Amino acid sequence: MRVTSSGETLGATIEGLDLGRPFSDGELDRVVRTLGERGVVRFPGQKLTGRQLADFSARFGELEINVANAYQEPGIPEVMILSNIVEDGRPVGLADAGQDWHTDMSYSRTIAFANVLYGIKIPKRGGRPLGATEFSNMHAAYDGLPEEMKRDLEGMTVLHDFNKFWDMMRREKGSKRPPLTEAQRKAKPPVSHPIFLAHPTTGRRVLYANPGYAVRINELPEKESEQTLEFLFEHQLKPEYRYAFHWQESDVLMWEDIGTIHSAVADYGPHEHRLIKRCQVMATMFQPGEER
Ligand SMILES: [Fe+2]
Repeated sequence: MRVTSSGETLGATIEGLDLGRPFSDGELDRVVRTLGERGVVRFPGQKLTGRQLADFSARFGELEINVANAYQEPGIPEVMILSNIVEDGRPVGLADAGQDWHTDMSYSRTIAFANVLYGIKIPKRGGRPLGATEFSNMHAAYDGLPEEMKRDLEGMTVLHDFNKFWDMMRREKGSKRPPLTEAQRKAKPPVSHPIFLAHPTTGRRVLYANPGYAVRINELPEKESEQTLEFLFEHQLKPEYRYAFHWQESDVLMWEDIGTIHSAVADYGPHEHRLIKRCQVMATMFQPGEER
């Protein structure tokens, strides 16, 4: 197993590990450590069934099953299919490129630890891959905050609302998803998390807020909360914290959700086909702390 850093603020490549085979706890530890330190890890040249993808992902924690989502691997509901391919008039997967910056599951009581994506079909134009996944480094964003702000915000909490992202996708991104029903809203009430978390594997502080779901800093008056969030949303996307991942077919891309935020680039058309299988690992095994 060989680990190579991207040389940028995030990103590493791990070679010499077949994710379709069982591997040792030592190897698992090394992956987890790399994931914490580099945020985004690429495993090139993988060949996996949906079952193997789910089995690999489950080594890192409980897998999320999205009950509202129709696009699942038959018989394996923890594997979700992301695609813009339409077969016989029916979409093969969930086509939601062009999402804004967010962290998956920050609106959930148990937040996400990691995402594992398997790139089966990657659109290309003139030999260049399209549909990059962009990331921003929340360890670095925390470190880069003014000291006064770190002190003032310490111990505060942020309210995350699933509905904020859903409505934005409908309003601004032309998403065909229907509005959330009253029952769906009730099933996903807004939740609060500390604004700074101790990362479960690095132990370092990260900024845990994202423009997709964060709606309010609970301990501040409304106006001040709004201004502070606006500042944080701009701050956390500074160019020096950013990293763009360019896909190749057969890549497995794994990223951890506590120390990064991400955004999908929508630079490909409906006939430039993309097919990705995804598992979402919840922070059940690797839980963030609040203590320094
Ligand atoms: Fe996401």
